[in-house]
Amino acid sequence: MSQKTWGGRFTGGTDQRVEQFTESITVDKRLYRYDILASQAHATMLSEVGLLTLPEAVQIVAALETIGDEIEAGKMDYSIALEDIHTHIEQALIARLGDVGRKLHTGRSRNDQVVTDVKLWVRAAIDRTDELLVELQKAFVGSAVRDQHVILPGYTHLQRAQPVLAAHYYLAYVEKFQRDRERLADCRKRANVLSLGTAALAGSSLPIDRESVRIKLGFDSVARNSLDVSSDRDFLVEFVFDLSMIAIHLSGWAEEWAIWSTTEFNFIELPDAFCTGSSIMPHKKNPDVLELTRGKTGRVIGALQQLMILLKGLPLAYNRDLQEDKAALFDAFDTVEGCLSVAAPLVAQTKLRRDVLAARIEDGFLDATTLMESLIARGVPMRTAHEAVGALVKRAEDGRGRLVDLPVSAFEAVAPGGGEAVRASLGVANAIAAFRSYGSTAPTEVAQQLAAWQDRLA
Ligand code: ARG
Repeated sequence: MSQKTWGGRFTGGTDQRVEQFTESITVDKRLYRYDILASQAHATMLSEVGLLTLPEAVQIVAALETIGDEIEAGKMDYSIALEDIHTHIEQALIARLGDVGRKLHTGRSRNDQVVTDVKLWVRAAIDRTDELLVELQKAFVGSAVRDQHVILPGYTHLQRAQPVLAAHYYLAYVEKFQRDRERLADCRKRANVLSLGTAALAGSSLPIDRESVRIKLGFDSVARNSLDVSSDRDFLVEFVFDLSMIAIHLSGWAEEWAIWSTTEFNFIELPDAFCTGSSIMPHKKNPDVLELTRGKTGRVIGALQQLMILLKGLPLAYNRDLQEDKAALFDAFDTVEGCLSVAAPLVAQTKLRRDVLAARIEDGFLDATTLMESLIARGVPMRTAHEAVGALVKRAEDGRGRLVDLPVSAFEAVAPGGGEAVRASLGVANAIAAFRSYGSTAPTEVAQQLAAWQDRLA
């Protein structure tokens, strides 16, 4: 007798090349835990509504548990002839329980089964990603506490712009990863809707109780439209988008620190344990972790594209194309999980080179914008102040000096009666102290934000 779950309709076997071409077991076997959980909930429900006897359900639940343990122990014989993890587990059950095992698939289809398993997997993957994001946020907050008052050059266009407190800098990343966490939480809502019980596409004529299964599997609600949900992979695209956004954030940070670790910048010292050397150049210490983080982002974004292109143009309801979703999903998650796992300890162990930063912090006219604002505060129209400071910068640059090296008369010309005071307010420390707006790098603002983050992440 054919081992195929759909053997009745067919005469003769499937072409070996077709089995090879259509199998998904090599990819979806990692869903086994969730497949077993969902089947156990389903079997229990079937006994509640009289489609199985209680002893039958008890037998099925126990046998599924054993099958799960065996898979865990590496004892499952996988065969492409059985196509996917759902069939493998069902066949293992039938091998154990005979006719009782043959009742499990009552009132369900692989179409609702597979999307239920994937939703359970995504739910756990979201929780794991969130956990790793929290660790990364904590690492940045730890650095913010350690370097709270260190002044860094802030850049736009990778040109020196205005000074910022190191704590402000680190917290910028904490905010980005917080938005990523919020996106994940939002995606989780749509993933956490029960699909099981929609059966093939139209529902079932049997008295199944979907609410009972929902409760057992911890879903928030039951999908309302069977036709919709058996083909719904929106949550998957959303999740991989969220992963892409995380990867994009990580890659920007990685690029920045790769630059900061160069001899030219020399702002940070990366931990040896997170760098590698060169097989020929003895002096090299390369930021490979940062580079790979940057590089792997392409893979994650690629997976997102793959999924969107996979879904476009699919008619309702289940189409076999959908089987292709899991390879992209798993790879995107594994990649981001890998990146996040090394990012947190790397951040925690990287030190700012405070001496190098301090020695160069007065370079690059970081105080020019604050000077302009001080003129505005004295009543000079903004555009006039901008032009005047621009001219002062040009003059200082021509003399290879800083703004503070210009004579008092230069400031007196733009701030009559206040030249001395204006000149005395130059320099990055004064510039930092002058900030006051909400969300700025003002020391009091930063201290408040830092305390709030310490609270939130405690
Ligand atoms: N291996 C399939 C998948 O992962 C299971 C669903 C198959 N359903 C079907 N009607 N052939 O998508």
